[in-house]
Amino acid sequence: MQDNQYISPSTIVVSQENVFSKDAFGKDFAWGVAMASFQNEGAWDKDGKGESIWDKFSHKKNKIKDHQNAKVACDFYHRFEEDILLAKSLNFNTFRFSMAWTRILPHGIGKVNQAGLEFYHQVIDCCLENGLEPYVTLYHWDLPQSLEDKGGWTNRDIIDWFSDYCEVVTREFASKVKYWIVLNEPAGFTGLGYMTGYHAPGRLGMRNFLPAVHHAAMCQAEGGRIIRKNVPDAVIGTTFSCSFIEPYTNAESDIKAAKRIDALLNRLFLEPTLGLGYPVHELPFLQNMVKKYVHAGDMEKLQFDFDFIGVQNYFKLVVKGAFWIPYLKALEVKPKARNVESVTDMGWEISPDGMYNILKQFAEYKNIKQIIVTENGAAFKDELSDGNIDDNDRVTFYQSYLQHILKAKQDGVKVNGYLAWTLTDNFEWTEGYKPRFGLVHIDFKTQQRTVKKSGKWFREFLS
Ligand code: BGC
Repeated sequence: MQDNQYISPSTIVVSQENVFSKDAFGKDFAWGVAMASFQNEGAWDKDGKGESIWDKFSHKKNKIKDHQNAKVACDFYHRFEEDILLAKSLNFNTFRFSMAWTRILPHGIGKVNQAGLEFYHQVIDCCLENGLEPYVTLYHWDLPQSLEDKGGWTNRDIIDWFSDYCEVVTREFASKVKYWIVLNEPAGFTGLGYMTGYHAPGRLGMRNFLPAVHHAAMCQAEGGRIIRKNVPDAVIGTTFSCSFIEPYTNAESDIKAAKRIDALLNRLFLEPTLGLGYPVHELPFLQNMVKKYVHAGDMEKLQFDFDFIGVQNYFKLVVKGAFWIPYLKALEVKPKARNVESVTDMGWEISPDGMYNILKQFAEYKNIKQIIVTENGAAFKDELSDGNIDDNDRVTFYQSYLQHILKAKQDGVKVNGYLAWTLTDNFEWTEGYKPRFGLVHIDFKTQQRTVKKSGKWFREFLS
């Protein structure tokens, strides 16, 4: 993105006419659900699986709300068949899940665990037998603890470790899996895991964040190249957490603050892969990263021609200038402070216009071939009543976001798929089990699944 290309916020008028049907999105549109190994699988030490940073972090005291952990989670390890059949019954055609690196290489490198490969063969086969296209995410945040002990994402050797893991996985599943996603939200796992310490492995500060960013960006491209080499007909993507950023007022300090946050959240990992380098102009502190961690030849290696970019969007952000905040000199103006009441259970503003705007913003990059919305969804307080869950807020949420995606598509954005987050309620990282994001309710005491009204809405919409 060039300077001054800020897209001003606008009220997006979406037509309520009959155009809002599955068919309006086109015949080849992918409709799916997305989930992640750590959040769903459980069986954290079963059949030779090694410990991940999230196992270790979540077993410590006071890291997760109400001292919860994901040792069992949704028990997807034993119930994958039931869940895949559920996704099918809701008429989805795509099933996105991630592989746990530690199930395949318990120590991150070295000996391969056949039982781990076997598990993912079963998951993939089950998807294929049921007419669901598997989308495999190689990394959704559960780094092997043995590698973290060697420095994790801050150690440049991770480029080799990650490459070895990608080699094993892509050779093994080349004949079955066509759609691949290299990383899930690198800004998320480097920012929360290595800068604020809020997520695993709980490390803090620029000295951890900056090397982690560069090494994750290198792995993002390297992973793409390895998939291309090993899977001839692969469709390769990677995903980004994206939020449209609005300045609080028209004051120059707010507009500049919005640009800095936009660079951090939306551009940091996307632009190097497109050959545009890191957004050092808006984020001068990145110069330290470039000086210290970028080796000769890296800027070329950061580039990879992805077949699609995965946009993961939940909310927009409103920010204002704040000179006292280190590095970013910006602060979020929370919905409450703006008298905005429409928020989800996570406190995130329900902002379908933000989805439209971020899609339009990404569409301005000439080198993005195709966009897939690889995550979007909402947590609400769902209550079971007489065996039913009338999650009307979630139904309205999905309808409004989908209408804005359709509007973006009709305005020329090449968006060709939508994956809802998520199929079943699951383990929401440090928030534990309280935020419920599923189209299907789980009673975590009995593991019983109950399709919510939102799930039934998708079943109808996709029929
Ligand atoms: C992550 C998911 C997470 C979801 C809701 C995304 O950032 O990829 O793992 O559960 O948001 O917070």
